Amino acid sequence: MLFSCAALRSLTLACCRFALPATVSLPSVETLLLSHVNGPDSDVQRLVSGCPRLADLSIVACRALTAVTVLGARLRRLAILCSDSLAAVAVDASELRHFEYSGFVPDGRNFLTLHGDAQRRRGMAYCKVNICGAEATSEYKLTHLRQFLQLSRRESQDCPEELLSGQQLRYNPHGRGLAAAPQAPCLRSTVRELSLVHYQGGVAQRSLARFVLRSAPAIAEVYCGCAEGDWSTLSQLKREIIGWVMNKSANTIFA
Ligand SMILES: *[C@@H]1O[C@H](CO)[C@@H](O)[C@H](O)[C@H]1NC(C)=O
Repeated sequence: MLFSCAALRSLTLACCRFALPATVSLPSVETLLLSHVNGPDSDVQRLVSGCPRLADLSIVACRALTAVTVLGARLRRLAILCSDSLAAVAVDASELRHFEYSGFVPDGRNFLTLHGDAQRRRGMAYCKVNICGAEATSEYKLTHLRQFLQLSRRESQDCPEELLSGQQLRYNPHGRGLAAAPQAPCLRSTVRELSLVHYQGGVAQRSLARFVLRSAPAIAEVYCGCAEGDWSTLSQLKREIIGWVMNKSANTIFA
């Protein structure tokens, strides 16, 4: 009965395996949270496709899931957290305003495919990327990280950024990812504030920080919450961040 309840608006399924009935029809579900769900791709897909009004989809620690497509509904919020087998996500992005990703560096260009009417697309209001696990240093991983970030940036305007990763301060003076960081013209006049939290100076984090800061001449405030570490590493990282801030009167706060 649950999977054909016409009145249900919000559905959370956690820590379960699926045994879906033949028909899934959830015409009113707008919010769907799947957490630690070990269903085969086909069942997750059938559930998602059974929600034509889906606006808010969170996929959390669904470690068996490899692909999901949401084209029959217009998502406004998409969160993909700690679902590391997920290699292909395709959504209608014409109304997507909020995107959150937490996990390893996603593999390749096909990870996220955004469909939808570009004319209607209003741009994202919130974008949070948390790259966790071992620091990405290989050329292969950095290329994927760059592709993924370019994709999410291309879709972003007015985008408050939160960039997270790791635990311990470090500084690699030969950060290979830093050299080729592109700039994002869509951030130019809109980014006024940047918060870096758990900043520990990994190459991926520094690339992200530099990417946003070098694209944001109108920035007025930069907050950086640094991880534990020694004084000289901290001061090198501070100096580097201050060097990237284009507005020399901006407030920079290190904690
Ligand atoms: C630079 O930062 C200051 C201090 O936060 C702010 O008042 C000013 O508007 C910023 N400059 C530009 C060009 O946005």
